[in-house]
Amino acid sequence: MHLLTEPQGILIVDDNPTNLEVLSEALGQVGFKIAVAIDGESALEQVIYHKPELILLDVMMPGIDGFETCQRLKTNPETHDIPVIFMTALSDTTNKVKGLSLGAIDYITKPFQYEEVLARVRIHLKVQNLARTLQKQNILLKEEVDLREQTEVKLLEANNALEVLNQELETRVYERTEKLSQTLNDLQQTQMKLIQQEKMSALGQLVAGIAHEINNPVNFIHGNIVHASEYTQDLLKLVRLYRQHYPQPNIEILAELDHIDVDFLAEDLPKLIGSMELGTDRIRDIVLSLRIFSRLDEAEVKDVDLHTGLDSTLLILNSRLKGDGIRPAINIVKDYADLPKIRCYPGQLNQVFMNILSNAIDALESKAQEDKNWQPEIRIQTEIGEHGKINVHLIDNGPGIPIELREKIFDPFFTTKPVGKGTGLGMSISHEIIVEKHHGTLTCMPTDAEGIQFTVSIPIERPDLVE
Ligand SMILES: Nc1ncnc2c1ncn2[C@@H]1O[C@H](COP(=O)(O)OP(=O)(O)OP(=O)(O)O)[C@@H](O)[C@H]1O
Ligand SMILES: [Mg+2]
Repeated sequence: MHLLTEPQGILIVDDNPTNLEVLSEALGQVGFKIAVAIDGESALEQVIYHKPELILLDVMMPGIDGFETCQRLKTNPETHDIPVIFMTALSDTTNKVKGLSLGAIDYITKPFQYEEVLARVRIHLKVQNLARTLQKQNILLKEEVDLREQTEVKLLEANNALEVLNQELETRVYERTEKLSQTLNDLQQTQMKLIQQEKMSALGQLVAGIAHEINNPVNFIHGNIVHASEYTQDLLKLVRLYRQHYPQPNIEILAELDHIDVDFLAEDLPKLIGSMELGTDRIRDIVLSLRIFSRLDEAEVKDVDLHTGLDSTLLILNSRLKGDGIRPAINIVKDYADLPKIRCYPGQLNQVFMNILSNAIDALESKAQEDKNWQPEIRIQTEIGEHGKINVHLIDNGPGIPIELREKIFDPFFTTKPVGKGTGLGMSISHEIIVEKHHGTLTCMPTDAEGIQFTVSIPIERPDLVE
């Protein structure tokens, strides 16, 4: 603080010139800047132009006295903080008290003791300076507090704004994540469909290709068997006629007749040709079934008998049903009701039957490995159900599906099979085909014994589907 080194402006007010001179000199000598006034009025005027740091005020003066002067100083806001020290006679206690009550900070007694005057003046100036410093510090502090408060308000506002922004951001991130996971989901579904479609169309094409390749030669054989039969009948008739009219042929012919056993040949050849015809009939049936299964040569929507679809699917799976030395054959029990034709996507329904039946075969095979004497079975039951629907129950006596997994089997990519064996798509695609494309239901329930029952239920009438 540098206030004490500043010139100390002191105003001395006294009507007594001697007093004025003595005091001015004494204080001036120690470095104070001194101003004087000889009465109250001129002192009041003077302080307006030059504000002193301290006033030494005489009590008894002509005109307005010291008390009045002090009172006016104290009531004027410009001057009320200037410290006033009264100068009064030693014995004058009443005046001392009055002066102090009017706002004076101290008094000095006449006749003056200079050391005391100096000490009091110094101490009051110091107090005054300290008070001013304190005031300034107070103002600074207040400003700082204000600033801090303003900053705090601004911080709070910024904080609020930040919070709002944060929330907006979070909402946006959430929305984005939702959208992305939806897109991912869609992508997975699309990928899943593509894989399955590719799989089925490859299978369909393969089957259709084989059917087509076999169809021509089989028809060729089948068509010629009639002629072959006719020609052999003619030839046999001719041989009979020869034997009738030439009962004694030459030795060479006799030996040959004996060698080929003409009687047996005549009896066996028609049978042989008959069984060949039966064989080609069977091959033609198989080719037809293959074509029904693949349905590549037909329109997508068709009125069909579901049993032909089921049978053709069984035929495709025949090699797996038959069994070999290691695997037991799977017993197929058909319990078909008399069903009307239904309008549907036959190729896709066959895919569903294929998926359910091959899952059943997988399950049965795994159980058969554990118990060699056990008889695996698949029962296919059809019926006209309630609400104009046809129900197809596909029941196996395999190991069944635990309840906690049963809820998941229609989820895409859910599989319990080893990597490379199952993609986990069969049931989810089947579910989609039945529910979305055919407005039906596909359910999975445990049977009374072990095993599982899948039920495909689809409406008979689909006026919205156009052939
Ligand atoms: N008849 C059944 N008996 C026992 N478990 C079954 C049966 N049918 C389905 N499952 C279970 O449901 C799971 C899902 O079947 P889904 O057909 O969807 O896939 P996957 O057969 O594993 O693979 P893929 O896509 O090759 O068909 C199977 O892994 C199997 O655990
Ligand atoms: Mg499967």
